[in-house]
Amino acid sequence: MEKKTGRKQFNFWQDHSLHYLEMAYRTDKIERIENCDGYGKRTGQCGDTIEFYLTVRDEIIGSASFVTDGCLNTIACANTVIHLIEKKSIEDAWEITPENVIDYLETLPSTNEHCAELAIGALYRALLNFQKNKRVPWKQLYKRH
Ligand code: FES
Repeated sequence: MEKKTGRKQFNFWQDHSLHYLEMAYRTDKIERIENCDGYGKRTGQCGDTIEFYLTVRDEIIGSASFVTDGCLNTIACANTVIHLIEKKSIEDAWEITPENVIDYLETLPSTNEHCAELAIGALYRALLNFQKNKRVPWKQLYKRH
C-alpha cells in the first residue's frame, strides 16, 4: 500500500486499510450517555472536541461512546479508542497510547496523528473522571452533561 507520496495518487477507498474504513464509518458508538461512570472532554489545537462516555462495572469498561465535531480521521481515532478499551480493565485502558491507535488504523495520514493524541487525551480525562467519581460516588447523582 502506497501513501500519497511520489507520483501515485492516494485512492481513499482502495488505499485505506479495512481497519481505517471500518473505524471511520462506524456510527453505533456515537452517543451521549446520561449518568455515565466516566466522562472526558478534550479540545485540540485544531479546535475539534471529543467527548467520551464510559460505563464501568467492577473496574471493567462494559461499554463506551463518544461525540465529536471533528473530521473523519477524528471519528476513526475515537472509534478505535473504544474498540481498544471495551471489555478491558481501567488499568489496561490507561496503557493505551496514541501509537496504539495509529498502529491499529494503519493508514491514518501522518498529518492527522494529532487526532489520535486528542482521542487519547479525552480518554485519559474520562478515566480520571471515573476514578474521581469512585472516591465520591454521591456526586454522580447530581451530574449532568
Ligand atoms: Fe482536529 Fe482531527 S483534525 S482532531
